[in-house]
Amino acid sequence: MSNIIILGAQWGDEGKGKLVDMLADRFEYIVRYQGGNNAGHTILIGDRKFVLRLIPSGILRPGKTAVIGNGLVVDPVALLEEIGQLAAAGVDVEKQLRISNRAQVLLPSHRLVEKISELGKNAIGTTLKGIGPCYEDKAGRRGLRVADLLDRDYFPEAMMTLMQDHRTRARAFGVDESENVAGDLKAVVERYAEAADRMRSMVCDTAKLLADARAAGKNLLFEGAQGTMLDIDHGTFPFVTSSSASAGGACTGTGVPPTKIDGIIGISKVYTTRVGAGPFTSEAADGVGELIRKRGHEFGSVTGRPRRCGWFDVPLIRYTAGINGFDSMVLTKLDVLDELDEIPVCVAYRIQGARTCEIPATWRELAKAEPVFETLPGWKSTTKGISEWAELPAAARDYVLFLEQQSGVEVGCISTGPERNETVRRSGTRFEALTA
Ligand code: GDP
Ligand code: IMO
Ligand code: MG
Repeated sequence: MSNIIILGAQWGDEGKGKLVDMLADRFEYIVRYQGGNNAGHTILIGDRKFVLRLIPSGILRPGKTAVIGNGLVVDPVALLEEIGQLAAAGVDVEKQLRISNRAQVLLPSHRLVEKISELGKNAIGTTLKGIGPCYEDKAGRRGLRVADLLDRDYFPEAMMTLMQDHRTRARAFGVDESENVAGDLKAVVERYAEAADRMRSMVCDTAKLLADARAAGKNLLFEGAQGTMLDIDHGTFPFVTSSSASAGGACTGTGVPPTKIDGIIGISKVYTTRVGAGPFTSEAADGVGELIRKRGHEFGSVTGRPRRCGWFDVPLIRYTAGINGFDSMVLTKLDVLDELDEIPVCVAYRIQGARTCEIPATWRELAKAEPVFETLPGWKSTTKGISEWAELPAAARDYVLFLEQQSGVEVGCISTGPERNETVRRSGTRFEALTA
């Protein structure tokens, strides 16, 4: 029996959706623990493509229970839209999905508040979904939770008060409210009341649900959103998201005790990407970055923004491996590098003349870091869809072994395409033991 966490080791979009969907057949419960609909987890099954935002990727496996934990911020309107899309694809969402009564409720006016900071010169380049302001209200103890949303006597007035507060702030900063909460706040509240009625049968105390599941010998798979470098504490602050994307978040965001976690798996691309602003030491020069972007289809699944592309960053992975205590690592998108003659790997930083592998605390210092590259030969042949280690070209195996040796973490699995079966599982690894 094992309860494991899968989470991003970089700045998000590492391929968590693909991996979680692939592994979900071995676990009974698939649980999201933080974030909201800023996430976009893509799953490709034949010619069908799903982009999940709030709902865990395990939902596509019939009979599995998908859980939205207390650590999330839930936009009920976005959730119902997602439920509708899955239902249209034949998923029995009502039976499979459970939503924590302690998750925060995201209001349209959170998006309005976000504009105050994002329209200025200190913009982070957020997804503009209202995520940061919703977590602010949680930490400020003003926020409303799903249990409040279901309370017909309490919620309408409480929502109205909070939205008026948001509107006052937005007006003071001259933010145009027409796109979010124009005019009639009552109509917005009514929409939320309708959403509440549609969600009601799926809402419960998910910490208890998961405790009962564990007691009955069921296995839990925790699905991180974003990535460790976007974590509110450990990421490249302030160019981060507002939640605990690293392993610790899985416990606070679900109510499952740390003593019940059996393994932690980090997921990283064989190169690096980032969406939005902030330092990115191993970012590739325009032409090569463009090549990776094209071959890897590196465009945001939520906003469609082009992702910034660069090389594998060893100091970054060592750092996130330390924060999370990875038992094993999954490397994705090997096939994207198939055509390259040679592949630079950032093995260290140089900051003001000194070589280091440490990540500085401020973005200002990190922005000064220059990458120290080692260049490896490319393999110049296709790895797309390969599922056996021995079938990978020798230079591709050497590349993976170099990343493993430099990072100090076992590479247990390699992804060679977006589909479930386009995956190499290395035998005799911790990864194999945890996911058997
Ligand atoms: P997530 O947010 O971590 O779930 O990742 P995204 O879904 O935002 O972005 C990953 C993208 O890469 C998706 O379009 C996946 O279908 C795709 N993908 C995942 N693994 C592979 C792979 O090994 N090779 C290729 N070519 N694409 C992959
Ligand atoms: P998944 O789960 C990549 C980035 C945004 C921005 C910063 C803050 O698909 O990997 P936010 O809207 O969260 O306040 O934005 O975080 N960001 C992501 N980047 N993948 C994600 O999710 C992201 N979620 C947020 O681009 O830089
Ligand atoms: Mg994504």
